[in-house]
Amino acid sequence: MKKIIIINGPNLNLLGLRETEIYGKTSFNEYYVSLKPKYKNVQIDYFQSNIEGEIINKIQDVGFTYDGIILNAAAYTHTSIGIADAISSITTPVIEVHISNIYSREKERQTSLISKNVIGIICGFGLKSYDLAIDSLV
Ligand code: DQA
Repeated sequence: MKKIIIINGPNLNLLGLRETEIYGKTSFNEYYVSLKPKYKNVQIDYFQSNIEGEIINKIQDVGFTYDGIILNAAAYTHTSIGIADAISSITTPVIEVHISNIYSREKERQTSLISKNVIGIICGFGLKSYDLAIDSLV
């Protein structure tokens, strides 16, 4: 069975409550539960942290054994050389995901420091962005 992990960065624990006009009204937990019946033959783990170093630790922990990492680094996408370096240090392929289309938003969101180290980027499809990333790995 393939092993995939979704890693979410800061403030994504508030999905469903936070800026719902941009990120929607569904909590990540509700969405995550709906994935189980859809992808019966894939192990999909989930990790969220608001702390940059914890995200780096998780990438290192899973990065030599898992089949794929779906990473929404949230605001750290635009700032974190440490997360970019963690991605280039591991062997597991990483897909960068965003709920919103970061290229249609404020200028500071239009730069991703991690994109150069991932196999692909999916953004702008709401929570469906995660489905599309899983589909590309299985
Ligand atoms: C986000 C976009 C980021 O710019 C923002 O900081 C987030 C979420 C997205 O999923 O659209 O927290 O990664």
